[in-house]
Amino acid sequence: MTTTTTELRHVGVLGLGTMGAGIAQVLAASGRDVTVLEQDGARIAAGRARLEASLDRDVARGRTTEAERAAVLERVWCTSSLVDLAPVDLVVESVSEDLAVKRAVLDRVAATVAPDVPIVTNTSALSVTELATGLPGPERFAGLHFFNPAPAMRTVEVVPGLRTTPELVERLVALVESLADKIAVVVKDRPGFLVNSLLLPYLNDVVQELDDDLATAEDIDVALQLGLGYRTGPLAMLDLIGLDVHLQATTALHAATADPRYAPPPLLRQMVADGRLGDKSGDGFRTHPSPAASPRPVSPHDRSPA
Ligand SMILES: NC(=O)c1ccc[n+]([C@@H]2O[C@H](COP(=O)([O-])OP(=O)(O)OC[C@H]3O[C@@H](n4cnc5c(N)ncnc54)[C@H](O)[C@@H]3O)[C@@H](O)[C@H]2O)c1
Repeated sequence: MTTTTTELRHVGVLGLGTMGAGIAQVLAASGRDVTVLEQDGARIAAGRARLEASLDRDVARGRTTEAERAAVLERVWCTSSLVDLAPVDLVVESVSEDLAVKRAVLDRVAATVAPDVPIVTNTSALSVTELATGLPGPERFAGLHFFNPAPAMRTVEVVPGLRTTPELVERLVALVESLADKIAVVVKDRPGFLVNSLLLPYLNDVVQELDDDLATAEDIDVALQLGLGYRTGPLAMLDLIGLDVHLQATTALHAATADPRYAPPPLLRQMVADGRLGDKSGDGFRTHPSPAASPRPVSPHDRSPA
């Protein structure tokens, strides 16, 4: 349902990838104007197609109407020119999970928007406080961590860094609560925040169990999804997240903590090296290429019975 809001009315989103497109959709559906910064026209076209496909799914499932779909698309404006972000009231950074890439774009954006404009990061695994270091006005910086897919997942972690003002935390909680069906959880800036500090070791253990031939990929997912009452199985979840995204996140948490629970399992590294990234590449633990596209079995653990 489309609502209107007077707080943080015009939002700049950095990156129109998996998460940026979903976040832009959620913000626009709340009545806000959204300006998205992407690297170039080709990536804008790909991100826009992602946004449209998500809205099409929502219309098909009766979650939104054709009129709301059109209104959301009208409110999301994409650009590759930094100066177009100058008038925004809030920036949500959702570019690739790479410290150098995030730092570079955040530096440029912080110098472009007004000095009191809050800037938040959707990072999964980097430290909010470290990302704020060196930025002009680190007290206006915080984490705002959406889950994938952003339009469907209800929880949003609000993560203050060491210098974030309490007023900004309050504004971000209010922002989340103005988004349809979303719930804010305020979490300390610890590696993985709350959800990923528990989720990433679980996903790593499951990949290792698959590699150890404990059960087939399908049976592992069925057991955990239905046995624990989860919405999705862990291997299907990895395909949705992107194996490359999970590898980056768990590698960053391993580097930050030296906790062996975050060490990337060898099979995960191999799948990523082989270009098998999950849904985005059409080939992952549970996402299989069509037999015509690729005659080889997807996984030695996941062959169909002859
Ligand atoms: N994929 C997930 O399940 C998930 C969930 C929660 C949070 N996150 C976090 O969200 C962020 C984005 O992840 P994603 O999965 O959407 O990645 P993605 O690779 O799908 O998208 C990243 C986008 O950023 C763009 N980009 C890179 N540098 C840029 C720049 N300088 N200016 C503008 N755009 C730039 C890329 O072109 C790309 O379209 C990461 O920090 C990730 O950790 C991901």
